[in-house]
Amino acid sequence: MLLPRPRGPLSARLRRLLLDGVEEIDDLETATEGHASSVPPDSVLHDEDLQLSLWMIYELSFRGFDDVDDRWEWAPEIAGLRTVLERPFEQWLRDVTEGWVSRTLAVEGDVADKIFALTDGFDEGPDLSRFIRKEATPDHVRDFLRQRSIYHLKESDPHTFVIPRLTGPAKAHLVELQYDEYGGGRPGFLHHELFAVTLREAGLDDAYGAYIEEADGPTLAATNAMSLLCLHRRLRGVAMGHLAAFEATSSIPCRRIAAGLRRTGFSDDAARYYDEHVEADAVHEQLAAREICGTLVDSGDVSVRDVVFGAAACLVLDRYQSESLMARWDGAHTPDQLEAAR
Ligand SMILES: [Fe+2]
Ligand SMILES: [Fe+2]
Repeated sequence: MLLPRPRGPLSARLRRLLLDGVEEIDDLETATEGHASSVPPDSVLHDEDLQLSLWMIYELSFRGFDDVDDRWEWAPEIAGLRTVLERPFEQWLRDVTEGWVSRTLAVEGDVADKIFALTDGFDEGPDLSRFIRKEATPDHVRDFLRQRSIYHLKESDPHTFVIPRLTGPAKAHLVELQYDEYGGGRPGFLHHELFAVTLREAGLDDAYGAYIEEADGPTLAATNAMSLLCLHRRLRGVAMGHLAAFEATSSIPCRRIAAGLRRTGFSDDAARYYDEHVEADAVHEQLAAREICGTLVDSGDVSVRDVVFGAAACLVLDRYQSESLMARWDGAHTPDQLEAAR
């Protein structure tokens, strides 16, 4: 994968720094500080310059870029920029979820009961999976797959960073969950490889990051949130709450999306990624909420508030992703219209 095209002055300067190292770092840090401190809280999600910059920095810790020296991952300049960019993003996540977190903390029961009360009662916004099952055209489906490829082609990789930060039963259960996500020891069955099959069957490019140029703000933010939560030890409880909500809201939508893929003429192989998640995530939601989050909270390793914050962040980000796609599709049903709406 090559560095993406910039979407504003910050990502342009970060790109130049990573490519040839000639940016004046003090000046870039000052500019980044200025940008990060002046972005209105409700614009953080849609600030594609900020979100793409953060995504570029995080990717240095995942697959990297063919045109960037891997040593940038741990360069102090990059760590400094990352901290500056993360600050408004994390604050926005905390602010936008605060109402949900307070209400959920007041729910009777243990942490798993609270997570399920939150996922059951959350206002999902536009129902993307129902639309895909009943109304979407093949072009809508491809548009959806391109956006989702940003995370699904690295599915579960962020959470692997959390494993060494846990101990005992929570660690054992996270490894159990990740083992499933990575195909249970069967090459070709890693979930991100199953998603690559879906892309190929849909006539799309299955290369990692192939559609980063098309990724909208909410899609970048949803992926960045997982990197943010999973790469910081202090946020391990938040990361596991996010994982629990992710798993708890996957099974039913995956059933609808698989049906939508078949209805629009895609093959069984294309639908297999979603078929696989119907049953797997019904198990994973229990594993994540009860065995991982439950154990972490009971042992005193993380707070209930952290876990609930992570769960709420997952749901809010998913809703914004759905809203963004549905808004783009509103009235755009032909390939040309979809292209124009992108
Ligand atoms: Fe999965
Ligand atoms: Fe899962």
